[in-house]
Amino acid sequence: MALLEIITIGHPTLSTRALPVKDINQEIVELARNMVETMHRAPGIGLAAPQVNVSLRLITIDLSVGENRDDLIVMVNPEIIETEGEQVGEEGCLSVPGIYEKVARPSRILVRGHNLNGQEINLEASDLLARVFCHEIDHLDGKLFVDRLSPLKRRLVRSRIKKELDKT
Ligand code: NI
Repeated sequence: MALLEIITIGHPTLSTRALPVKDINQEIVELARNMVETMHRAPGIGLAAPQVNVSLRLITIDLSVGENRDDLIVMVNPEIIETEGEQVGEEGCLSVPGIYEKVARPSRILVRGHNLNGQEINLEASDLLARVFCHEIDHLDGKLFVDRLSPLKRRLVRSRIKKELDKT
C-alpha cells in the first residue's frame, strides 16, 4: 500500500467532472486501497479519487477513521437517486486546508453504486453520512464545498485560502 498525494484547491483536476469506472480491475482495487490508507492517515472521513489526481468516479468513506472496519465504504460510480429534507452543518475538505464553513445538504439520501466486487449497492444514509456522500460525489462532479457558499462568503473564503496556501 502507498500513501497518495492529496491535491488542493486550484488544481484543475478538482474542477473536472470525473469519468465513470468502466472496469473494476486490479488497478482500481489498488487505487481504492491506497485511497483508504491516505484517508485514514490524513486523517479524514471521506476521499474522492479526483483529490488524489485521478479523474474517476470512486469514493471512500469511513466515519470511524479506521476504528471500525464495518464503517468503511468504498463505492464505484456512486449516484444519489433520492434526497429528502435539509441539514446545515460545518464542512471541511482535505483539498481545502484550514477552511470550515456551514453547508446545506439533504438530511437523508438514497445512494446507488458498486463495491469492488462489482456488486450493486443501494444504501440509505442520513445525518453526517448523507453529508459526506454528498460532499464526495460533488468532488466527482468537479465541485468543492466552497462552491456551494454564497458569492460574498466565497470571496472571503478565497482570500483566506490564499493565505493558508501561502503558509505551506
Ligand atoms: Ni472534500
